[in-house]
Amino acid sequence: MSSVDIQLHAALARAVAGVPHHELRGRVAALSHRYRAEQVADTAPGIRDALDALAYAVVRMPATFRALQTALSTVEHEPSTHVDLGGGTGAAAWAAAALWPSVTTEIVERQPAAIRLGRQLAAGNFSPDWRWTTADLRDWTSPTTVDLVTIGYVLNELTDETRRDVIRAAAQSAKTIVVVEPGTPSAHRRTLAARDLLIEQGFTITAPCPHQGPCPVDWCHFAARLPRTELHRLLKDGTRNYEDEKFTYVVATRLPTHPKPARVIARPGRAKNRVVLELCTSTGTAQQVVVPKSSEAYRAARRTSWGDAWPPGS
Ligand SMILES: C[S@@+](CC[C@H](N)C(=O)[O-])C[C@H]1O[C@@H](n2cnc3c(N)ncnc32)[C@H](O)[C@@H]1O
Repeated sequence: MSSVDIQLHAALARAVAGVPHHELRGRVAALSHRYRAEQVADTAPGIRDALDALAYAVVRMPATFRALQTALSTVEHEPSTHVDLGGGTGAAAWAAAALWPSVTTEIVERQPAAIRLGRQLAAGNFSPDWRWTTADLRDWTSPTTVDLVTIGYVLNELTDETRRDVIRAAAQSAKTIVVVEPGTPSAHRRTLAARDLLIEQGFTITAPCPHQGPCPVDWCHFAARLPRTELHRLLKDGTRNYEDEKFTYVVATRLPTHPKPARVIARPGRAKNRVVLELCTSTGTAQQVVVPKSSEAYRAARRTSWGDAWPPGS
């Protein structure tokens, strides 16, 4: 675990101290059901009160933090200013702070209970550089240009129209935009719609796609592995000590960029004498590459993971 993971887990453990586990378990189950059944919408919030916010933070925030951090690690230009839309309890702010300790973040969120908990979790960690704004994204515009806008696990909760308005509003003010959604086929389609809109607004897509054309696969997604704490296992009935958070994302920028030749879009197949890589390439096609043991690229291929650019260092 990185030091930021440890800080986050410690902050979550402090936040649940004294809260009866059976109550939290009930909220975790209800919240998971609402999100899985896609019952969360503009008019039906996922997080409704303080206990919901706590349930969300304990079982989802370490995973959304890790997915956001993975997506943000592909951003080529270090931001100084960051706005996180629909920031919940602050996962994207934690992810940005883990990568760029001097970044200044504003978190825009409509649920006061999520903001209260977010402030509490961040206290003593990164909070001096963070500003929390209680606002509805339907009314949000930024008065100034910002280096980075993140929209993490939020599109799902907006109507098609609001989704488009929010992306357009972000495109007005951001130099770089990162959208992260769950790793489901429907979320992939939503991410692609956001990608189309960003291209329309003059942005260049820098990750995960190594091209600006239509997506050549039905379901592009990635996985971020994270440790599961005892508390998480207790609340979610899990037995494994890790989880793979599946997510989909897009990074778009107005700044100069170095396009990647290709990206690994599935877990590499590792047989005894070869590595099989599923790639999305700069020509906009999906392609399978077999790297045999006799190839100079074999060692690099062995070390390559799902989501990495290929060839490494490109
Ligand atoms: C699934 S949570 C994601 C939180 C955080 N971004 C993360 O990745 O953990 C979605 C958040 O978006 C917020 N949200 C949804 N619709 C919103 C709106 N119209 N205006 C402001 N916040 C909104 C919700 O209150 C919730 O905190």
